[in-house]
Amino acid sequence: MTESDATTKATEAASRAAALHATPYGTLPPASPMPNRKPLSLPRLQEMQARGEKIAMITAYDATFAAVADAAGVECILVGDSLGMVCQGLGSTVGVTLESMRHYTECVERGLRRSQGTAWLIGDMPFGTYQESKEQAFRNASVLIQAGAHMVKLEGGGWTTETVRFIVERGIPVCAHLGLTPQTVHALGGYRVQGKTQAGAELLKKQAHELQEAGATMLVLEMVPADLARELTAELTHCATIGIGAGNGTDGQVLVLHDMLGLHLGKMPKFVRNFMQDAGSIRGAMENYVAAVKNGSFPENAIHAW
Ligand code: KIV
Repeated sequence: MTESDATTKATEAASRAAALHATPYGTLPPASPMPNRKPLSLPRLQEMQARGEKIAMITAYDATFAAVADAAGVECILVGDSLGMVCQGLGSTVGVTLESMRHYTECVERGLRRSQGTAWLIGDMPFGTYQESKEQAFRNASVLIQAGAHMVKLEGGGWTTETVRFIVERGIPVCAHLGLTPQTVHALGGYRVQGKTQAGAELLKKQAHELQEAGATMLVLEMVPADLARELTAELTHCATIGIGAGNGTDGQVLVLHDMLGLHLGKMPKFVRNFMQDAGSIRGAMENYVAAVKNGSFPENAIHAW
């Protein structure tokens, strides 16, 4: 057999193998969508914070959307417990279980791995899986890390400080979450802006500093006044703030996937922009979101903030 015959045979064998694995159902891209991007890591995210490059985060709950978000340049993917509402039809995040979070985190991780994605993956700890004790929190955080998350997110301040310290000391990066914390919506009296009073703002700042000191390296600020979020962002040196309804002064932004694609069936929250409206594709919408976060044109304080 000549060399050229051997090459032809090998090519044919490769296409037969590819055909065997091809499905008619939206296969993931075979090669790295962002070949020049190094995998996101904690040091790289901290470098972005230090040099003032905005961090673009989005939620995703399945393999394909995760791969597309990665290809669009999103740096952080959050498997949020908002999946309770957008995927499972629940009325709030309170009913989401650890088993669900593990399942969806695995789906997203597979999507990133199969598409050679480079995004930083954050798994949300659901209600009831970290409140009891530091040990319970670590045990359940491990489940999400074993499912493929690089970092876990948990809501609340004050009582969470020692839990965060315990988890971080044992090698799991933590993203905290202050302001509107949907898991405690009943205690907060509804989905309302937090930190509006001087006392509320001071408490939020105190809790944020405690969380940074305990080792949290990221902090979601949800529905807090833009001025407060900007001030806090300037004060925190090694904990990147990620805003949602917190104005444009934070280190990065996050939106729920379905909201930014205009798939919200009720009244769209004030802090959301529908990026699908002017984009020809979902990937285009995500690219526009990344660009708008990076150049500071989203969010607009006069429209999307308090
Ligand atoms: O669950 C979620 O999607 C979240 C974001 C809204 C930050 O926590």
